[in-house]
Amino acid sequence: MIPVNEPLIGKRELEYVTECVSTGWVSSAGRFIGEFEAAWASYCGRKHGVAVMNGTVALQAAVAALDLSPGDEVIMPSFTIVSCAQAVVYCGGTPVLVDCDPRTWTMDAGQIEQKITSRTKAIMPVHIYGHPVDMDPVLELARRHGLAIIEDAAEAHGAGYLSGRDSDSPVWRRAGSFGLMSCFSFYANKIVTTGEGGMVLTDDGALAERLRLLRNLCFKPGARFQHDNLGFNFRMTNMQAALGLAQTERVDETIKRKREVGAEYTKRLGDVPNIMLPVEESWARNVYWMYGLVVGEEAGMDAVELARRLDALGVQTRPFFRGMHEQPALQEMGLFKGESYPVTERISRQGLYLPSGTALTDEQIAEVCARVHEVLGRG
Ligand SMILES: Cc1ncc(COP(=O)(O)O)c(C=O)c1O
Repeated sequence: MIPVNEPLIGKRELEYVTECVSTGWVSSAGRFIGEFEAAWASYCGRKHGVAVMNGTVALQAAVAALDLSPGDEVIMPSFTIVSCAQAVVYCGGTPVLVDCDPRTWTMDAGQIEQKITSRTKAIMPVHIYGHPVDMDPVLELARRHGLAIIEDAAEAHGAGYLSGRDSDSPVWRRAGSFGLMSCFSFYANKIVTTGEGGMVLTDDGALAERLRLLRNLCFKPGARFQHDNLGFNFRMTNMQAALGLAQTERVDETIKRKREVGAEYTKRLGDVPNIMLPVEESWARNVYWMYGLVVGEEAGMDAVELARRLDALGVQTRPFFRGMHEQPALQEMGLFKGESYPVTERISRQGLYLPSGTALTDEQIAEVCARVHEVLGRG
């Protein structure tokens, strides 16, 4: 079976983690936390990094730092992971949805403005499967309406976005460089992994301090056991950070490989009929975190059936996200009543992603593509 993901853990990772174990610095104190925060923030072009346990709580900490009042709204894509919606719900806010773009599968920026109300406090763009959101219109809306941006770059480490493409001086910027706060996951299937892990980046020093307090139970500096606010224990361990630092040191190499894998899949699958492959818009640099495909209804099967057939041929896959408006747990809270997001609904039923881990070999890619051809045929 070719696994959907297998991380590539190198000698440097072993060396750093061994240092944690042999010196006893295994908790959330230790040199690697600060070094990883600084290295990742610098790679993404940000001033401050606050490392946490995973990407889900990175989003929760970021939303908590906004101090929402009950009923305050955060606009996000319907096509995303539940972590985005639950971060808002857990902080007393209300998630508000927009559909995704049928080409990039990311938030359709053109649908945001009609969802802005007097209660809107933030927009949460989510880069999907390695392709960035079209950020300029999102930034412009946020500026015009005085909204915060919490960027979710969990799936787009190192992805590029050409900002100001209609101006005289367009500039390439990395995913994670746009939000008032930008959140990452370093789960084992991510481009940079710490096993489990996450981080919030910001350029705002006061906000970074607030995030550090929230991460650490709001222990008060100078009066440790007095709590003026309630926080969380979202701390990352030194061992996770050790892995993350080693991974960050060779992130360029990893991204180069991810792009090669993406290009190879696109070349080999280009002639399969009735499927849509990932795109790379002219203003984007896709890192192909996961190589997704959407099978057309004309193929006579949905993603569940395609996944079943590929599995029988030794290829593991994962289905696309199910839309937030179709989540029973959120519907039961009275959210998204009667709402429909047709692009999300179609791709969530017809989409899956192929093996895409950093350890994937060229032979495995060839094998996966041969099996896809076997199931879906050639054009
Ligand atoms: C877009 C997005 N945001 C957030 C997360 C949550 O990250 P974690 O699994 O580290 O909690 C994920 C996880 O894959 C994700 O894909």
